[in-house]
Amino acid sequence: MNRESWKEKVVYQIFPRSFQDSNGDGNGDLQGIISRLDYIQSIGVDTIWLSPVYESPRVDQGYDVANQREIDPMMGTMADWEQLLQQTQSRGMDLWMDLVLNHTSDQHRWFQQARDSKDSPYRDYYIWRKGEKDGEPPNNWTSYLGGSAWTYEESTDEYYLHLYNKKQPDLNWDNPKVREEIQDMVRYWIDKGVNGFRLDAINVISKDSNLPDTKESKMEGSGYKHFKNGPNVHEYLRELNEKAFSTKEGIITVGEASMVSMEDVAKYTDPDRRELDMIFMMESPSIGTDPDDSFKSRDWKLTELKEIVTRWEKELLNIGWFGLFASNHDHPRMVSSFGNDGKYRVESAKMLATLVHTLWGTPFIYQGEEIGMTNYPFESIEQLDDQMALHYYKARTERGEDPQGVERRVLAGTRDHARTPMQWDESPQAGFTTGEPWMPVNDNHREINVAAQQDDPASILNYYRQLIKLRREHADVIVHGEYAILLEDHEQVFAYVRRNDERQGLVLLNFSDQDAEFELPEDIGVCLDSAYRALGNYEPEYGKDADQVPHRLRPYEAIVFGGLQPAPQK
Ligand code: GLC
Repeated sequence: MNRESWKEKVVYQIFPRSFQDSNGDGNGDLQGIISRLDYIQSIGVDTIWLSPVYESPRVDQGYDVANQREIDPMMGTMADWEQLLQQTQSRGMDLWMDLVLNHTSDQHRWFQQARDSKDSPYRDYYIWRKGEKDGEPPNNWTSYLGGSAWTYEESTDEYYLHLYNKKQPDLNWDNPKVREEIQDMVRYWIDKGVNGFRLDAINVISKDSNLPDTKESKMEGSGYKHFKNGPNVHEYLRELNEKAFSTKEGIITVGEASMVSMEDVAKYTDPDRRELDMIFMMESPSIGTDPDDSFKSRDWKLTELKEIVTRWEKELLNIGWFGLFASNHDHPRMVSSFGNDGKYRVESAKMLATLVHTLWGTPFIYQGEEIGMTNYPFESIEQLDDQMALHYYKARTERGEDPQGVERRVLAGTRDHARTPMQWDESPQAGFTTGEPWMPVNDNHREINVAAQQDDPASILNYYRQLIKLRREHADVIVHGEYAILLEDHEQVFAYVRRNDERQGLVLLNFSDQDAEFELPEDIGVCLDSAYRALGNYEPEYGKDADQVPHRLRPYEAIVFGGLQPAPQK
């Protein structure tokens, strides 16, 4: 069993523009983050991942990078960043940067020089092709924002490829010079002292060089079969690892990679292959969306979620490693999507956290999740900044779909729910800014805020603190132990044990807003005599022995039991 200590990390993701403003311009910034480091440390996490803070025109909120080596003036200066690094590390925490390596902004100097001349040394940094004879683009792929993945440049009579916005041209990883530039840039940040990286959209960097037409008719991202986990992706990552990540001891990497098989994950994260340390389990947070239409929700059953989690937990055990999350900057708030943001907001936020923090894998917390922040009541498309939402709306309404229906879907599914300002206190702008915030502050900040939860033992925030403490104290089981599912077919209760040869723990989660009854299987029942209740999101039922494993859970109840005897050897 691999018991490396880096696997015991708990990561806190910051979306900098929405975290804390220090200068009253309505945008979060680096000094703002510095002023909140004590808070972050108090949660118990040991790592901070910063979503991009590089120079950027912000067509895609920083995921369109104009200069990977400079800090965006909106965020502050390089001196501010260095101070942030120093202050983070002096508190015993690590700092990870976000690497956007599939594309740059069209304002990047490489693209500026590549655009106008086929002879520019930067031309081949991007992917250019002649159009088809009848004035059509080189192939029929659609971008993730809808419409063709190609944009025509008149000056050179060629098209360039962009899987995302036309202002985010894709880099040509088949060009060794591009790979060298990237390695050099990554070493630049390593030399500055960062501890790790999150790699954006990393499994789309290698395209089938024939760029064939696709038979898929998806309105967004249709060409995926020709670039997801593409032909040279593993080779390129091994090279990046060798020439950059491995140049310093202890650099940790996590890749964003959707649409992966277990075999792909194993390849990306098997330590012997020296590619990445982990990739995110993205399959579970996407369970409620239609795979062919990211703004259409789909009904899902708890048994489907269990199947996904169980497959990852079992098939990757001691082979690869992955990151666990229920919310990030690309999804609506988790308590609104998977829990209940009304009557059971507190209970369901704690229950979902219990799942993420008691599985095999590295838990990630997204800012505001730890206080149970909810979706924002957006009322009109005009309130949105999210380019995916705006493009989606445009594409569907142009095609003649009912604008109101499309708007409803977009308002429900937009990434902007996760991007409204962090709710620090009950003051008018929630303590986020003294100015006009770039995104509206949710009115519910009067009740849902950090200040109100700091000292309340029953708060979501304090539950996270306990959960992280529990995970650390029982790392041999919770981080490194094996997972076994119980009650596989139950549609309300998610139950599993975590165990090693010596010890077992039991986790019981009610995913519904109703009481849930269940009967544990006999072979686990015999281990329960010595069990004790380690954590729960309700007071133990009155008059009952708290250490006794119940047969019924209340709405969204979560309980963790420790001290189970090991399962008898078969
Ligand atoms: C990733 C980011 C997302 C961004 C996209 C394009 O999915 O998480 O925010 O829009 O890549 O860079």
